[in-house]
Amino acid sequence: MASPSQRIGWFGLGSMGLGMALNLQKHLRIKGSPPLRYSNRSLSKGQPLKDAGAIPEDDFESVVQKSDIIFTMISNDDVLNELLTKALTAGGPLAGKIFVDTSTVHPDTCASASQQLGEKGAVFIASPVFGASPVAAAGKLIFSVAGSSEAVETIKPLIVDVMGRSIIYMGEDVRKSSLLKISGNILVISFLEVISEAQVFAEVTGLGTEQLEQFIGSMFGPVLDSYSKRITTGAYAPPLDTPPGFAAALASKDAKHALSIAEKHGTRIPTLEVALSRLTAAREYAGESIDSAAVYGTARREAGLPFWSENSRQGN
Ligand SMILES: NC(=O)c1ccc[n+]([C@@H]2O[C@H](COP(=O)([O-])OP(=O)(O)OC[C@H]3O[C@@H](n4cnc5c(N)ncnc54)[C@H](OP(=O)(O)O)[C@@H]3O)[C@@H](O)[C@H]2O)c1
Repeated sequence: MASPSQRIGWFGLGSMGLGMALNLQKHLRIKGSPPLRYSNRSLSKGQPLKDAGAIPEDDFESVVQKSDIIFTMISNDDVLNELLTKALTAGGPLAGKIFVDTSTVHPDTCASASQQLGEKGAVFIASPVFGASPVAAAGKLIFSVAGSSEAVETIKPLIVDVMGRSIIYMGEDVRKSSLLKISGNILVISFLEVISEAQVFAEVTGLGTEQLEQFIGSMFGPVLDSYSKRITTGAYAPPLDTPPGFAAALASKDAKHALSIAEKHGTRIPTLEVALSRLTAAREYAGESIDSAAVYGTARREAGLPFWSENSRQGN
């Protein structure tokens, strides 16, 4: 169990990371523990954390040096690898430290992180999360956790009822939690794809997108209702000054991971293949300020409708 004097660090303050770190800092403050030390590529994004009593650090190396448990929430495998290289080459002692990555990265990236940190006497816990940014802000994420069971027991009190509602423990093999997360995103991205197809069908046939959404909510519940709303409210292409909830680039990364793993195991995921190609087309047409639900924009274009809907932004 994390002792109250243990020093906790955080790197990564994007859509997900800021809300998670704020919840963690609030918890540390209530417990009278040392404040969270945080950093981010754009450090200014940490102002709300600083206001909550956390301590900014110039870079990841400083966070690592001054912390016993280090959480990361960054965009992709390359960034995680860069951070680990910095930690491994900075020269400070790493033995006994626990690194907890909550991003979505490939199982092989987790295995490599675990091996490299293990050689320095540190522990790597792979802990991707389920839930979008409002869920992160509400402290209700589901954590898919794998790695040393002893280290998992240590970090549990920093997760359950702090940043998350529950932990699914996937065992000591760090690849497993990443595999679960990627499987989950096969579902999420595919749901967005099929709802987009149905919503375009509703529009071109004159059925009406509101009526279909009412049915989706009644029949399939609040999660698929919220996916439909990301399409119909125009959140798939938000105003340029509003970051997307789950960026198309991040969903594309997850889809590519899933497809390459499937190929390696001799299977295919055709729905995801279509979704990835529509996401790619959406990014080429509308740029990177689009949500993973922007498969809808491409589906609209393929049906002869404009990419932009009456509720989305109207261009770049
Ligand atoms: N959004 C979701 O709904 C959701 C849900 C579950 C899991 N995830 C996963 O969680 C992770 C984070 O997602 P997010 O939505 O929070 O992404 P995001 O808003 O794009 O934030 C990405 C974070 O990574 C940092 N970063 C990017 N490139 C970097 C670089 N080259 N060097 C250092 N830092 C870099 C960003 O720094 P800056 O602030 O300086 O840009 C930011 O802190 C991803 O792996 C994603 O797949 C997302």
